[in-house]
Amino acid sequence: MDKFIINGGNRLNGSVRISGSKNASLPVMAATILANGRHVLSNVPMLNDVRTMSTLLKGLNISISTDSGKLILDNGGGEFCEAPYELVRTMRASILVLGPLLARRGRAYVSLPGGCAIGARPVDLHIAALEKMGTQIVVENGYVDAKCPDGRLHGAEITFKTITVTGTENIMMAATLAEGTTTIYNAAQEPEVVDLARQLRAMGANITGEGTHTIKVEGVAQLAPAAYSIMPDRIEAGTLLCAVAGVGGEVDIVDAPVKELSPIIDALATMGVDIDVGGNRLVIKSSGQLKAKDITTMPHPGFPTDMQAQFMAILSVAEGTSVINETIFENRFMHVAEYKRMGADITISGQTAVVKGVKRLSGAPVMASDLRAGAGLVIAALVAECKSEVRRVYHIDRGYDALEQKLMALGADIRRTKS
Ligand code: EPZ
Repeated sequence: MDKFIINGGNRLNGSVRISGSKNASLPVMAATILANGRHVLSNVPMLNDVRTMSTLLKGLNISISTDSGKLILDNGGGEFCEAPYELVRTMRASILVLGPLLARRGRAYVSLPGGCAIGARPVDLHIAALEKMGTQIVVENGYVDAKCPDGRLHGAEITFKTITVTGTENIMMAATLAEGTTTIYNAAQEPEVVDLARQLRAMGANITGEGTHTIKVEGVAQLAPAAYSIMPDRIEAGTLLCAVAGVGGEVDIVDAPVKELSPIIDALATMGVDIDVGGNRLVIKSSGQLKAKDITTMPHPGFPTDMQAQFMAILSVAEGTSVINETIFENRFMHVAEYKRMGADITISGQTAVVKGVKRLSGAPVMASDLRAGAGLVIAALVAECKSEVRRVYHIDRGYDALEQKLMALGADIRRTKS
């Protein structure tokens, strides 16, 4: 397993381009199940999760190739409808093939994702909504065994009792080919849901309300393959912003999803970081001296849970005490123990972490437990004095496209080794 060796303390300067969004790429790729033929996707990041989704789709008779930086997905159709445990257990987002398979092939046999480091990650809301749309679902032997007895899903009024991003995406995709109208209440407003809606509309879907809590989908008889360009990754952008904020420097961030970054930009601005915004780029200037900031994670447009670990890393050396409330996942403080081994002063009580800023962190061997905790540990190591080793970087490789190369190009002392 690879690890990063990081010698902290270097300021970051220069320019970096943000890659396409992981959390937009995965539903957009799954949506190609909805229409046979040749789909052309641009700005798809080269991540392990994208490779896993590609393998999953190849098993569903969708051939995948690249052509001058574009991802070509040629859907040959057919009846096969299984998403096997071997793949789903490595990537929970595999559940995103459930809705499209039912809508287009009338059948789906998808392994239950199971939990992960940050929580139980149930899919009960996906299942209940699909049942309301006319699906017969049996959950046994670790699989969701779903079929559409009428041959076609029918529209329904769906209210999610908890805002769910992939649940909203699954139902929006399923509804595009359903008979009649589907209205999703308490829908997720995440930018990645909006990106998926734009691609579905390019395929001929009739969707309104994406980006609000009420999404309406008028089912159509058929969709067509489309060309689509994935939005930039707001969490990669936020992660790089935190790195610069923490170590100090001046960096030009190009192709950033500036509008979707506002909760992150606002938080950094109150911590004493200077961020100039212009079009799809922003320039961050930081002295590395930060002020404390209380954070509560919320569904978009609130502060994103996927940025909690990264902010906790820089708040660990901010002046003052910060209170972080994690309201989305029940176990998303796995990074705290590792930060404390680097000298951070953090106390957890339930879903709340109290972070007392310390003068400095000291380098140490640490271990990533999940994707964003791993990113947070890289930031902590960049901020810390002396050498750190971040192990199990395969977690980071799932969701970041060449993170260490991007940081190295900005002046970070980071390299990957085999351990
Ligand atoms: C998406 O996960 C993202 N993944 C996550 O990013 C992100 O952290 C999360 O949304 C929240 O923003 C992708 O988009 C591929 P949820 P998702 O359904 O859809 C509960 C990353 O690091 N819930 O919005 O799985 C659930 O337990 C990843 O890139 C149910 O109870 O999250 C959680 O408490 C991590 N039943 C809450 O809802 C359900 O059927 C929100 O989960 C579904 C969800």
